[in-house]
Amino acid sequence: MKNLPLLFCGIFFALAFSFVGLILTSHIQIGGLAQTTETVTPSEADPSVMVMAEGEPLFPRKESGIVKQGKDVYISMGCVYCHSQQARRSEFGADFDRGWGPRQTVARDYITQERVLLGTMRTGPDLVHLGGRYAGDAGRDWNHLHLYNPQIVSEGSTMPPFAFLYDVRKIENEPSPNALVFPPNSEYGPEEGYEVVPTRRAVALVEYLLSLKIDYSLPEAPILEQ
Ligand code: HEC
Repeated sequence: MKNLPLLFCGIFFALAFSFVGLILTSHIQIGGLAQTTETVTPSEADPSVMVMAEGEPLFPRKESGIVKQGKDVYISMGCVYCHSQQARRSEFGADFDRGWGPRQTVARDYITQERVLLGTMRTGPDLVHLGGRYAGDAGRDWNHLHLYNPQIVSEGSTMPPFAFLYDVRKIENEPSPNALVFPPNSEYGPEEGYEVVPTRRAVALVEYLLSLKIDYSLPEAPILEQ
């Protein structure tokens, strides 16, 4: 092995170059990103430095407790294999026309997340702005029906049903307030006298889905009126 030092040098440089190229440069470019207000103004002391507007809320928001629980369910169910969470700018595809986001998403949008689920496949629609398309109680009901069986609200869908996240049980006295309301004569509804109620995992998952929305501007990516 007379070429051992050369071999070690080769290994060292291969690792060193990839560390610098992949980790160090990304860290220098985006490692210092922090939450910010929607508008920034030049500082009085030094106009070349931009400062945040005082008293305005910070974006992106932090994930709340139930949202984090729902995200764990999203990860464990493998939703990321069919759904991305990143909106591209208009020159790069039809994301805006499809309503998948009001602006492109940028690195700062993800800094409050412990695990970022950008995704690589779009078998289904992008979900980064899902909460903007489905909001409030109507959005919650739609998403529960859709998860229980996508065919109920989206006929012909290739998304698998996640019915095991729901309990089918006998109605005692009165129906539960959180039972799913199926469209009239739906073939997917429970038998007479039974009801379908979401488990804790389904409740958390839908809260997570509704929390996904790009409804704030960032200095580097403002929402432009269209
Ligand atoms: C095998 C691929 C696949 C998997 C896995 C999958 N989906 Fe889907 N999803 C789709 C397809 C295709 C659609 C579009 C048709 C429809 O609306 O059902 C869709 C639609 C959706 C929509 C509606 C989006 C819109 O804008 O209307 C939501 C919300 C959604 N999926 C959430 C989930 C969640 C949550 C999971 C994991 C529990 C999941 N999906 C797993 C393929 C998938």
